[in-house]
Amino acid sequence: MHDALKKEIATYEKRTPKSAAAHKRALERIPLGVASNYRHYEPYPLFVQDGKGSKIHDIDGHEYIDHNLCFGALMAGHCHPAVVKAVEQKLHEGTTFGMPHDMEWELADEICKRYPVEMVRFGSSGTEVTMHACRIARAATGRDKILKFEGAYHGLHDTALVSVKPKDPEYGDPDAPTSVPGGGGIPKASLANVVVAAFNNLPSVERRFRENPGQIAAIILEPILMNVGLCIPQPGFLKGLRDIATKNGALLIFDEVKTGAKLAWGGASEFFGVKPDMICLAKSIGGGMPLAAFGASRPVMDLIAQHKVFHGGTYNTNRAAMAAGLAMFREVLTRENYAHVDKLSKKLTEGYRAIVKKSGLQAYVASAGVNGALMLYPQEIRNYRDWTKIDIDLWRHYWFAMVNRGVLPQPYWWDEQWTISVQHTEADMDKHLAVFDEVAPALAAAQLERGALYVGAAGH
Ligand SMILES: Cc1ncc(COP(=O)(O)O)c(C=O)c1O
Repeated sequence: MHDALKKEIATYEKRTPKSAAAHKRALERIPLGVASNYRHYEPYPLFVQDGKGSKIHDIDGHEYIDHNLCFGALMAGHCHPAVVKAVEQKLHEGTTFGMPHDMEWELADEICKRYPVEMVRFGSSGTEVTMHACRIARAATGRDKILKFEGAYHGLHDTALVSVKPKDPEYGDPDAPTSVPGGGGIPKASLANVVVAAFNNLPSVERRFRENPGQIAAIILEPILMNVGLCIPQPGFLKGLRDIATKNGALLIFDEVKTGAKLAWGGASEFFGVKPDMICLAKSIGGGMPLAAFGASRPVMDLIAQHKVFHGGTYNTNRAAMAAGLAMFREVLTRENYAHVDKLSKKLTEGYRAIVKKSGLQAYVASAGVNGALMLYPQEIRNYRDWTKIDIDLWRHYWFAMVNRGVLPQPYWWDEQWTISVQHTEADMDKHLAVFDEVAPALAAAQLERGALYVGAAGH
């Protein structure tokens, strides 16, 4: 660990003794002291007191401009008035009945107007809806295998938790990657039904179809790979996948848990002009409430109506989450608000690019919709294996230095990205950029000292 990083971590520890104590207490009863492994990092995570608009406070009383926004679930920002009002009312009228209500077709209709699907079912998390989408694809085709991309994250079910962060050498051939379980407890039978290909590499996808003739039910992907910072599909890649899926009788599933709300008004299919067979939505459609949805054409979704595929869930369409969802689609995810966040995103991205250039940092800035990331590589990454070459300690230096100065630039973890909410302001961007401007020269100096240029950084 280089000295400048040690110094930033020491400052972090000095600033946040209450978080340290809270984490220590939590460790007694909760594995890693957190409720999701993604929330854990060394030396300990920040514990939050509250949030409003674009800001949060930690329990030591420090304020941060928040670009974590619950791992991108809060394009609304904290306590958006429209969401608060809608949810508050439902809290007084009853939250959940396990019986149908009118907000179900209302929200289904909003979704079908915006995304290329004809029917919708709801759930509470991204994991849930990608699981159901994979199952429906299997039922629709009579095939068991799902093709996913190396490094892609689609949640925690057995089909999804494969080759999310596989390591060298177990990940094998770059064009025909080995299916590597993302931890214990994933049955070998599940692994055998997940075929892995390389992102931005159509020949690798074609090869996997050739090797598994008539066996692949669906290709599932994030249209922009967001578990490696931000990896944009190369021109023709999504269209190529569309053609390969159609040619082989497989479904194309867009996991739009992140891109659905945050990339554009109509999500990735509108943005890239490619129509998938199924869409999965979660995170920012719920304004901070647990809300998710999956949709497809009528014939595919009719498998549920014909009792050929089973779908259920006690908390599906609970009224607080559905009211939040309706408020999101009608009052937050509006064309006007997309224009506002696009302006902020441009300002932040261009500001970062100018600072990177001025400081001499070997890095580039990736950006799409309200998401962006400082990518500590001199050239654009194309896939997961490119991403593994990042200098992790340099990224940690960036993150702790920004946090110590009141900007939470993104969730902790170098595979994440920033989110801008509709409640962020020009002044927030100015402060964010001023802090990055202060931090960047130290990062450039550390990078030089560590000799951590792209070629030499592998193996961190
Ligand atoms: C693309 C994508 N799919 C699925 C999921 C899983 O969603 P959840 O955490 O709500 O289960 C995530 C979560 O980060 C995600 O980013």
